[in-house]
Amino acid sequence: MRILVTGAAGFIGSHLCERLLQDPHHEVIGLDALVPSASPVSVREQNLAGLLGHPRFQFLKQDLLEIDWSAILPQVDAVYHLAGIPGVRSSWGTDFQTYVSHNILATQRLLEGCRRFPVSKFIYASTSSVYGEQAGAVREDAVTRPLSPYGVSKLTGEHLCKVYTHNDGLPVVILRFFTVYGPRQRTDMAFHRFIRQLLHQEPITIYGDGTQSRDFTFVRDCVHAIASVLDAPDVIGETINIGGKERATVLESLALLEELLEVQGNVQFIGKIYGEPKQTWADIRKAQRLLSYEPQTTLREGLALECANLRQLYNL
Ligand SMILES: NC(=O)c1ccc[n+]([C@@H]2O[C@H](COP(=O)([O-])OP(=O)(O)OC[C@H]3O[C@@H](n4cnc5c(N)ncnc54)[C@H](O)[C@@H]3O)[C@@H](O)[C@H]2O)c1
Repeated sequence: MRILVTGAAGFIGSHLCERLLQDPHHEVIGLDALVPSASPVSVREQNLAGLLGHPRFQFLKQDLLEIDWSAILPQVDAVYHLAGIPGVRSSWGTDFQTYVSHNILATQRLLEGCRRFPVSKFIYASTSSVYGEQAGAVREDAVTRPLSPYGVSKLTGEHLCKVYTHNDGLPVVILRFFTVYGPRQRTDMAFHRFIRQLLHQEPITIYGDGTQSRDFTFVRDCVHAIASVLDAPDVIGETINIGGKERATVLESLALLEELLEVQGNVQFIGKIYGEPKQTWADIRKAQRLLSYEPQTTLREGLALECANLRQLYNL
């Protein structure tokens, strides 16, 4: 199968490409414009290191907003759409324009392409941020109430997908990821910041009081679930939560990192939580049923792997 992965140089996209290439029947076209975002371009270039040169991998440095689909999509069987601008905190003010362009407009351009050149599956990377504040484990049919412009942009992407399904029969599957972490995690995400700050003995900066909790998904578990969508029957038209093995508060996670790195952090609380819920918690029963998904990695195991990866990245 020939598979297009957008956002291939990104944190999750690069892991997904590697995972898909483990199947000798797959060829992967990784597309990424390396657009300026919170994660430095040099880090994303390193994400591609294990992929470039692979005989069944082709990298296209192209922008979804400018691409000529007739040159690519006729050869593609399935699409994973992970490209976008992630991150809640930077989605306010004039920066929202970037979110509109890369999360909404770019998605619409790709959907238009797939309308002209049909594919067997179109898998859209969405987020727990579409839910906003919810009590308990959240099911996919919960009322969506995003709290940030980022969440709104990703939810708009979901709605666009559904519009093309309704009118053109586009075979869409929507996956909602819950805080993904592990090797190559984006530099702006909390664990990456904490590990970097601990390794450099800098103050640990925490938003809110640290008691906010997240459903943390290790990236290997996440891409295992994403890849399994390709062969799963009965998933077209579905929206599926991809959560992790464990939930924890920010302070609990930090304590684990201090233990793993054997350093004590100097915590600074730097402002209230803005645009984020107090807790996220995925009900993953649908993923278990439709994808036989079972997250394997404990927070301790996953954080240890992220620490090892960032020690390499920062030569420490
Ligand atoms: N990381 C998480 O915890 C998380 C959680 C929920 C949802 N998501 C979603 O998963 C996807 C991947 O997230 P990530 O953390 O790997 O982000 P990332 O920033 O590491 O990767 C996204 C990639 O998309 C590329 N891109 C953006 N706009 C583009 C365009 N117009 N054309 C071509 N390439 C473009 C960027 O250059 C970047 O390399 C995103 O859509 C994000 O919203 C991520």
